[in-house]
Amino acid sequence: MEVVVKEDYQGMSRLAAKIIADVVREKPRAVLGLATGSTPLGTYKELILMHKEEGLDFSQVVTFNLDEYIGLPPEHDQSYHYFMNENFFKHINIPPGNVHIPNGMAEDLVGACEQYERDIKEAGGIDIQLLGIGANGHIAFNEPGSSLGSRTRVKALDEKTIEDNARFFEHMDDVPKFALTMGIGTIMDSRRIVLLANKANKAHAISITVEGPVTALVPATIVQLHPRATIIVDREAAVELERPYRDTPHDLSEAVAYIQRQKGKDS
Ligand code: F6R
Repeated sequence: MEVVVKEDYQGMSRLAAKIIADVVREKPRAVLGLATGSTPLGTYKELILMHKEEGLDFSQVVTFNLDEYIGLPPEHDQSYHYFMNENFFKHINIPPGNVHIPNGMAEDLVGACEQYERDIKEAGGIDIQLLGIGANGHIAFNEPGSSLGSRTRVKALDEKTIEDNARFFEHMDDVPKFALTMGIGTIMDSRRIVLLANKANKAHAISITVEGPVTALVPATIVQLHPRATIIVDREAAVELERPYRDTPHDLSEAVAYIQRQKGKDS
């Protein structure tokens, strides 16, 4: 697992966007796993900029979002469908048919979850999964205590999440109580993971995620077991980390240049 500490939110967002853009440039039919929330907004802004200014092409890209509330139609301004459309999809050239977000209005919710897993498989698996992290260490809607092997399924929301969301709805009755979410096992099947965190309220979750033991009580700790995970944080989210970390991802060309220098000394 690689940990990169950037100075600020913009640095974090730019690096995440660059990593995703490199995947798309190398594989135009890349399958992207996407997240909602405030954390990835800067990353989406950067990717939109790259699309507009550098022609980054999303015409063959396929996406799968992590989660969606149950009972909110796609046009509801608190749904993740709406969020993704407003903040990303409507600004790039991705065909609507290539976008997948769990269907929180499905009559057969269990069937919809199973279909989502099949759809990911049929698309060839997720090439790169973007993640945010909750202050309690959740990833997607996998709250503390979730099975580390879980697949896409229905989850009841924590009381705290319901309370936090109440401000966005007119009546308490309207606040979603359930969500569809990719499981931790689903997320871990991605070929690459990029987990982002900024601000001081994430510092504790990040310190456990990076330096603590792997535990279902902090679901994000599972990324320690992923063969290709990058955690990008800003300075504030890094304050509780004990070990020093770099501000640039490891670059193989540094190692290659080193070998060349050593060979030069021998000859
Ligand atoms: C979003 C998601 C959540 C968020 C997390 C952090 O699709 O699955 O796990 O990533 O709650 O949210 P923000 O970024 O708003 O702090």
